[in-house]
Amino acid sequence: MLIAGKWVFITGASSGFGAAAARAFGAAGCHLLLGARRVPKLEEVAAMAKAAGAASVHFHALDVSSTASVEAFVAWVKTLTPRVDVLINNAGGAHGLDPVATAKDADWEAMVQSNFLGLLRVTRAVLPLLPHDAGASILNIGSIAGHQAYDGAAAYCGVKAAERSVTQALRFELNGTGIRVGSLDPGLAETEFSLIRFKGDAARAGKVYEGTVPLTGEDIAETLLWMASRPPHVCLDEVIIKPTDQAAIHKVYRRTKG
Ligand SMILES: NC(=O)c1ccc[n+]([C@@H]2O[C@H](COP(=O)([O-])OP(=O)(O)OC[C@H]3O[C@@H](n4cnc5c(N)ncnc54)[C@H](OP(=O)(O)O)[C@@H]3O)[C@@H](O)[C@H]2O)c1
Repeated sequence: MLIAGKWVFITGASSGFGAAAARAFGAAGCHLLLGARRVPKLEEVAAMAKAAGAASVHFHALDVSSTASVEAFVAWVKTLTPRVDVLINNAGGAHGLDPVATAKDADWEAMVQSNFLGLLRVTRAVLPLLPHDAGASILNIGSIAGHQAYDGAAAYCGVKAAERSVTQALRFELNGTGIRVGSLDPGLAETEFSLIRFKGDAARAGKVYEGTVPLTGEDIAETLLWMASRPPHVCLDEVIIKPTDQAAIHKVYRRTKG
């Protein structure tokens, strides 16, 4: 499907996968609608996407944990375009790596708000703008954590498992509309993810990737672009993508010793 000229809304576009997706969809000639809380970072991403060849780039503050913020964002979108062709629900991440016995309410609540309720809120607000029978896509970023739980991540794995359930429920609810819904579920990828999880502790975040060859934002972005540009009758329901050296969550081959 020709993706040039399509309107693409990316949540969490200020870093990592979202920023890389902005560049990739921009290079493909799309119109971009970028949201995140850090507006100065969005401004940088927007400039990069414009330089890459985007048809147009628009950015606005967005906090997916607030219904008011999501509604304000979508009201602003409506001043620019009557339709959104691709919605990429990417905003989210992990907070902390504590066992249930000692985990903090604030971390749990942040993860539920951004990864789970945020995805629902944004989707609800954007659904009226997605055209029927025109190859529109909702692409949700899940994780291999939604397939296999691991220690210290009960809540994070829980919200990513919930993301898969939302994707599946939307497939039922939107059946017959021609709107595609898919989940892209990455394994180990080097972004700001671990820095955020460990609250700015760069040394601890660095250890996660030490000696590994992780996925990059670009790997995820080009997969999203591929999913969105399949012919309209093709829906990638669920795509799992991992580094070659990652056999499972806990089985990562480290090529060099730190
Ligand atoms: N990296 C990995 O290994 C990995 C693997 C599987 C899945 N994932 C998932 O991939 C997605 C993107 O993560 P990433 O790896 O690219 O990490 P990242 O570099 O930390 O990016 C996370 C993005 O989400 C945004 N965000 C977080 N909370 C938000 C909120 N309340 N409202 C709006 N935007 C919010 C952040 O923007 P602001 O802070 O500016 O708001 C940022 O742009 C997340 O859903 C994450 O769970 C990551």
